[in-house]
Order: sequence, then C-alpha cells, then structure tokens
Amino acid sequence: MVTSGGDAPGMNAAVRAVVRTAVAEDLEVIGFERGYDGLLSDMAVPLDARSVGGIIHLGGTFLKTSRSEAMKTDEGVRRAVAVLNRREVDGLVVIGGNGSFRGACKIYAESGLPIVGIPASIDNDLAGTDTTIGFDTAVNTALEAIDKIRDTATSHERVFVVEVMGRDRGFIALEVGVAAGAEVILIPEIKYDVQSVCERLIESHRRGKKSGIVVMAEGAGNCMEIAEALREKAGFEVRLTRLGHIQRGGAPTAFSRLLASKMGAASVQFMLKGLTRVMTAVNCGLIVPVDLEYACTAEKEIDRELFELALKLAT
Ligand code: F6P
Repeated sequence: MVTSGGDAPGMNAAVRAVVRTAVAEDLEVIGFERGYDGLLSDMAVPLDARSVGGIIHLGGTFLKTSRSEAMKTDEGVRRAVAVLNRREVDGLVVIGGNGSFRGACKIYAESGLPIVGIPASIDNDLAGTDTTIGFDTAVNTALEAIDKIRDTATSHERVFVVEVMGRDRGFIALEVGVAAGAEVILIPEIKYDVQSVCERLIESHRRGKKSGIVVMAEGAGNCMEIAEALREKAGFEVRLTRLGHIQRGGAPTAFSRLLASKMGAASVQFMLKGLTRVMTAVNCGLIVPVDLEYACTAEKEIDRELFELALKLAT
C-alpha cells in the first residue's frame, strides 16, 4: 500500500481499514513510506493491526506522501515495478488522487499487477465516484473559516473575496459557496466576466445587503484582480483571504472517516475477488469498483443545478 500525492483528511482511516481487513483475511501488508518516491527507493514498513492503532482521527497520512517527479518517467515506473517484483508483492493499493492513479495505471501496464485505487483528494475531481475521501472535511474546514469571515464582513460592511483550493476544478468552491450563502461563486467550469460580478454585488447592495462574500476557486482566475475590480469599478471596501493549505489538514469529519473505512475494507475484498486496475468508488451510497483509468482521465461533471440554486438563493 502507498499513500501518494496531496494528502487528504481520512487517508489514515483508509490505511487502517485496508490493513485490518487484510489481516483478518490472513494477508500480509507492507506500506511504502513517502508516496511513490518511497516506493522507488523501497522504503517499506510492515503493517499489522496494531501499527494502525490511534490514527483514525488524525489528518494527513502517517505513511507520509510525496508528489513524485520520478514516477512520471518510464525509468521511474520500471524501478517501481522492480521493487514490487523483488518483494513478491501480489497486489498494490494506491490511496490518492488523479496523479497517483495515472502512476498506478502505468505500473499496471508495465507489470499486470492487481491494483486497486482508493480516491482520497480534497478536490473531489475523480470521475466515477460521487465523492472522495477528504472532500467533506475540506469543505467543512473552509466553511468554518468563511462563517468567521462573514462576521467581520458584516460588521465592517465589506466585501470579502475568499479563495479556496481545488486545483483546476470548482467542487470545493461550489459546495462551500452554497453552504456559506456566498453572494458570488466563481468556478473554472462556468465562465464569468468581472463586470457582471461587480454588477451583481452592486445590485445586491442596492437591495440592502451591505456586505458580501465572493467564494472563488483557485482555478477560476486571479483573485487579486477580482478584489481590485470590486474596489476600483464597484467602489466596495474589499479584503482578500486565501484559505490555502488549512483546507488539507485537520481531523477528518465523521463522513470522511466512514467513507474511508468502507472504501478501505471494500478495496481488499475487490482485490481478493480478482478485480484489477479498479478504483473503489461510491455511487448513490453503494461502494462499487470502476475502471481506474476512466476515473483519472474522464472529466467529472460539476453540478450546474446546484450552481443555479446558489444564484437564486443568494439574492
Ligand atoms: O490536490 C490537492 C491540492 O490541495 C489542490 O487543491 C491544490 O491546488 C494543490 O493540492 C496544492 O498542492 P501542493 O501542496 O503540492 O502545493
């Protein structure tokens, strides 16, 4: 097993579930530390039921992680396969996001080794699964921060631009924007122009709202330019907050822990059933296998109805 790419709250709960389910099935488990970089340099540790005790409530990943440049090369993939073969590994569980799964697909292509991916990413940008481990926690972390920003925005009658993570997707921004009652939500999937953002806030001010929150996905443009336009063109007193990596840390929510526990256990069962190159997904509450390559290459749809709802409700 390996945890790879950006960490996500609930990765530890997934590691625990994989190890304990595997041990109950009389399987031997090793974890590679520090993501794919650790796999390439054979940084393996044996994992038993006790070694994953006391971690279900912790954010991050106790196995550590990395964004491996080496795994993007053919030579890196060959080295990974050589380590796995030397250790006589029968199957690999990869806990991570789309970059990690692209690496896993290459390992599969080179070796034919059974591989199960567990989707863990705050971005929720993997196709074929309704959600990913850590997404709910990140949304709640951002929500807590924006609720606090709302207090000071109201007191000072200011407009706040709040930038949230999500890489090139707007899933976090959309969900937290709706939950926080943001006046404007800017996401990469839905085009906007700065002038209409200004007009929307001016109109909202005219109707009596003296403050406002603009939730902006990091992939939706330059948040400093938006803040400046709202200041210069619309005449608001504006402040800018970038939430950044606080969204990646912290104790996983109950939802993230439950999802991680179910997915971790199901992943071992999928492997025992002989499934290979699959991602363990959740689909309308059911845990199901989906093709791993599809998960990391197809584009997941954003919920446009939810976006429309947000516009209607933030009047
Ligand atoms: O993929 C998770 C994520 O937190 C993205 O939302 C963000 O763009 C990126 O990772 C930041 O990566 P890093 O921590 O490597 O700077």
